[in-house]
Amino acid sequence: MIFDYLHPTHKNLPPGSMGWPYLGETLKLYTENPNTFFTNRLKRYGNIFKTHILGCPCVMISSPEAAKIVLVSQAHLFRPTYPPSKQKMIGHEAIFFQQGDYHSRLRKIVQSTLLPSSIKHSVTDIEQLVLKLLPSWENRTINTLNEMKRFTLDVAMLLAFGNESELETEAFKHMYHCLDKGYNSMPIDLPGTNFRKAMKARKLINDTLRRIIELRRRTMKQSGGQLGALLGSNDILSDSQISDNIIGLIFAARDTTASVMTWILKYLHDNVKLSNDVAREQESIRRRITTENRKLEWEDARRMPLTRRVIQEALRTASVLSFTFREAVGDVEFEGYFIPKGWKVLPLFRTIHHSPDFFPLPDKFDPSRFEVPPRPNTYMPFGNGVHSCPGSELAKLEILILIHHLITTYRWEIVGEEPDEIQYSPFPVPKQGLPISVTRYLKKHMT
Ligand code: HEM
Repeated sequence: MIFDYLHPTHKNLPPGSMGWPYLGETLKLYTENPNTFFTNRLKRYGNIFKTHILGCPCVMISSPEAAKIVLVSQAHLFRPTYPPSKQKMIGHEAIFFQQGDYHSRLRKIVQSTLLPSSIKHSVTDIEQLVLKLLPSWENRTINTLNEMKRFTLDVAMLLAFGNESELETEAFKHMYHCLDKGYNSMPIDLPGTNFRKAMKARKLINDTLRRIIELRRRTMKQSGGQLGALLGSNDILSDSQISDNIIGLIFAARDTTASVMTWILKYLHDNVKLSNDVAREQESIRRRITTENRKLEWEDARRMPLTRRVIQEALRTASVLSFTFREAVGDVEFEGYFIPKGWKVLPLFRTIHHSPDFFPLPDKFDPSRFEVPPRPNTYMPFGNGVHSCPGSELAKLEILILIHHLITTYRWEIVGEEPDEIQYSPFPVPKQGLPISVTRYLKKHMT
């Protein structure tokens, strides 16, 4: 029987449709607006329903309490999982796929370089990247998403290798771009396919990382970025553990942050009063910095309450990670339903973030809703529990620094005919990556 998961037992499976054989409901999920896909099923079946996507039987959950059980209180029953092709590209030993002791050991090391006390020393380096990037947009039409990806890749590499790296940056970026193209393609391993090219690039990246690891081990020079922390840890890690985690970190840091930044430019463009208020907040900081004749500092980023609420609201509205994947490690009784071993379980962040019960008028972009904290477990742009995002503070910091310089120096207009259409690449982003034309607003001698 091909689809014996349809009848695994007579126990009470969650309601829902498994769609077409093999394809299940994959096409619907990836061609419909995800809000529509989830909301339709939610109305029909309730907060917990079954479906079948990417070749796997799944249970989708959209109540904050049920999401908390899967991600936090009963997290040991649900292991993180990715499609095998994607796991292979990132590397099996990367933090995302681990549980238990190895995961906590890695997490400690990874977190140590992402705490506010560590990233506060990167403000100047990140600012330098912004000051190099923005003038290249001047008087041009740019693809916002692509430009943001350039920036977030630079920040991720700074974080991974430190600012005095022995890496050949441009060659590494080229290899990473090949890997990235294949990551989002069908996993068809034939000559000429993006997947095959990506696997080749993955091997080259691995060889490069191994050479740097070997050099740093030989010269006892471990300092510098996440790589330094992984090499210097008392907990001895193998070369492949280190290299999988460096690639994993760049992978986690780049497209997520770039997609959110793209949305922020769209939201600010569409909300003129809000944009003026944010500009005022940032100009007051710029004036203070100019008066004190210094560079932007960590403390300045703490004094941007409105801009921070804009980021919070963009993370909610855009919900670039619509959901995450877990897999039941055994048969599980869950909220009155039976979930068979091996089924995927997907907490739906986007659906929770767009529920009018927790966020009134959910489609409205309204940062003022964050003047009071959201109800517990209803706001999870960075996940929840042991696998929640260790890079959340860095992501916010790089966004704040970019907005500071962009809004005090430039103006931007959206170019193109479908500004409200969305594309999935694979994160939801404005269509065609949001083309914008950028002009300088502040005279050069005033910067
Ligand atoms: C706005 C940008 C970002 C968003 C929305 C985001 C979101 C998330 C979410 C939802 C998770 C949890 C996934 C799960 O539970 O399955 C996660 C995990 C992770 N993120 Fe982020 N992230 C962002 C930026 C970053 C950055 C900048 C870094 C690194 C510098 C980073 C590193 C990681 C890592 C290493 C994990 C895996 C943690 C673990 O498994 O223990 N992320 N992220």
